[in-house]
Amino acid sequence: MKPLLASTLAILCLAATPSHAQTRKTNAPAQILEITTADTALVLLAKPGAPVLFRHYGAKTNDPRAFLNKGYRDDLEAYPALGGANFANLALSLTHADGSLTTELVYAGHDTRALDDDRQETIVHLKDTLYPLTVDLHITAFKTENVITQRAILTHHEPAPIRVENIASASLPLQAGSYYLTHFHGAWGHEMQLTEEKLTPGDKVIENTRQGVQTAMSDNPSFMLALDHPADETSGEVYAGALAWSGNFKIIFSPDELETLHITAGMNPFASARILAPGESLQTPDMILTYSATGRGQASRNLHDWARRHSLAHGDQPRPVLLNSWEGAYFNFDEKTLTTMIDNAAALGIEMFVLDDGWFGNKYPRDNDRAGLGDWQVNNKKLPRAIAYLADYAVSKNLRFGIWIEPEMVNPKSELAEQHPDWIIKSPGRDIPQRRNQWVLDLANPAVQDFVFKVFDDTVSLSPNITYIKWDANRPILSPGSTHLSAGKQTHLWQDYVTGLYNVYDRVRAKYPNITIQLCSSGGARVDYGALKYHDEFWTSDNTNAVDRVLIQYGANMIYPPIATASHVSASPNHQTGMTLPLKFRFDVASSGRLGMELQPKDITGDDLAFAKTAIQNYKQTIRPLVQFGDLHRLVSPYANDGRAALMYVAKDKTQAVLFAYNLHHFLPRGFTFAIKPRGLDPAKTYEVTDLNLNPKTQKSVFPGNNKTCTGDYLMKAGINLAIRLPHDSAVLYLVEKAAKK
Ligand code: GLA
Repeated sequence: MKPLLASTLAILCLAATPSHAQTRKTNAPAQILEITTADTALVLLAKPGAPVLFRHYGAKTNDPRAFLNKGYRDDLEAYPALGGANFANLALSLTHADGSLTTELVYAGHDTRALDDDRQETIVHLKDTLYPLTVDLHITAFKTENVITQRAILTHHEPAPIRVENIASASLPLQAGSYYLTHFHGAWGHEMQLTEEKLTPGDKVIENTRQGVQTAMSDNPSFMLALDHPADETSGEVYAGALAWSGNFKIIFSPDELETLHITAGMNPFASARILAPGESLQTPDMILTYSATGRGQASRNLHDWARRHSLAHGDQPRPVLLNSWEGAYFNFDEKTLTTMIDNAAALGIEMFVLDDGWFGNKYPRDNDRAGLGDWQVNNKKLPRAIAYLADYAVSKNLRFGIWIEPEMVNPKSELAEQHPDWIIKSPGRDIPQRRNQWVLDLANPAVQDFVFKVFDDTVSLSPNITYIKWDANRPILSPGSTHLSAGKQTHLWQDYVTGLYNVYDRVRAKYPNITIQLCSSGGARVDYGALKYHDEFWTSDNTNAVDRVLIQYGANMIYPPIATASHVSASPNHQTGMTLPLKFRFDVASSGRLGMELQPKDITGDDLAFAKTAIQNYKQTIRPLVQFGDLHRLVSPYANDGRAALMYVAKDKTQAVLFAYNLHHFLPRGFTFAIKPRGLDPAKTYEVTDLNLNPKTQKSVFPGNNKTCTGDYLMKAGINLAIRLPHDSAVLYLVEKAAKK
């Protein structure tokens, strides 16, 4: 595994050097700072003693010096602070030690260094013209993946604390005629619902519920932005952005009267004023940005490549097919229930068993969600031979073993809540509104950070055969209050909770670099790049209904990589829906992400059992390398409202591909077919096309050209026709290069 990057955010207490001397106006000429990747450039204009101006972010030009020319707006600052003429679209607003509200940031130099052969960091130094206060913009260019990230570090040496009201990670002014914003709205059970809208005058804000913990509840901290036209998969200018922050966030899109769109992204200033002592620093999370001149498909692929290489644990290693116990057993199990599930999983060809909630608590057994959370001792009644027995049993059947924890939370009915009432986030003297019968522990408190780390450490220590942890977090912060923070710093809780969490993640990864960790929060409520870099994958949604999953996964994979998108075959109907879906449809949907199962495998019988074994084998042998490491091409959007969807993954060398097609709720008359044009193939190559996962009842292919060969050119121009006429029909086609027929 490649070493994980150190936490991107920390509230730093640096012994920074005393203030810069007061700025003198100089006659030094303006210079262009060009931060480039393979195809993109961020261009700034810097002149000592003057604000750093934004010139361009987008396609790289061959004449960056031309950005020195006159004719550009000279009021677009790279990092606008409240003061002077800056009142709107502010990246920074604060109250100085003497009460002044004005900050004027000017260029004070920059440094550039190569971090490795892919990454180059530029630090742009800004300083206030009057006070000993600096802001450093750390901009990293990831050359191959065409991604740049930016964060800001504020430091001051004023004689008394300052009060920071708002500090953004990045501020980006883009210029075009019109702007189409794609964002990912949702809540429990319907995460990452893609919404596209034309921006009109006035601020458009995306943010989470402002309740901490569940970053992606309401809106995900990410977006795409198409210029001049609604986003298309293969054409047009598209920007994509994602904030690497697992707390309250705010991204503001503000078109002004001069056709400039101001994007301001960062931690949410909501109730979060920060008191910063002299000599202290405050660092923002990274804002991740990419640009594509050829539609949003390429923007997604840039982010997927970047994540696998730089912001996902073990991004270069295949993920196992797993069975999770939750929907198959919920809280109702004993040792026999689980060993039977393990036996059945092994017979299906599954590679890992994950024991979900319900394995702990003795005084208050965790037999439902009302008790036991926080008491991380193995429940003796359910599991008399403890976890080691189960983990060994799984390994004896050639399965890896994983286990669920939710270490940030506590049930009121638990020994932990009895012993440490001061560890619970709570407004003094008031009741805490209940959510899922549990409360949130105060991760701003280092003692709680130690506890949470210990829960992880102790759980892994239950057996040397535990190689996977599912880390859950099932409620937000309500009625905020920390006994650890002083009265004057209660507003620090939102940010300190997240930095406390990252501190624990850092310790976990330092000690357990190889363990697989799933990021879960009531499904996909904490899917953000701040947390994801410590994890191998995320639980996409508690909604495992395959029709809904097509939409959820389509949205999620706009920004986050399919290798990390846990996607499970569940029973049908299940807790989410009365709808009965064919097993083939459920497998064909789950196989387009990181395949797993979440049901009682003994309930799969007859033709379905044989089908499940074949589908798992097909995934392991053929589909997995393409889905997890290939390039995603979206072909037909499930959001287009005609009841169909299709996508494909193409190997980097274009020798293989897999195409998924789904009929979500469409009826076509007999003889009609679903026509799809594949993308991303090599037109010069000849491919054999094989229909995988044949219908267990008919064993017939839905593709007339099954097992025949044709060129990539033909496939992409003429398309293919699939007989998936009825709701919940689906197809998985495998394309592999063959020597051209003579
Ligand atoms: C959350 C998770 C589920 C499951 C339950 C267990 O809802 O999203 O996958 O782990 O908790 O309580």
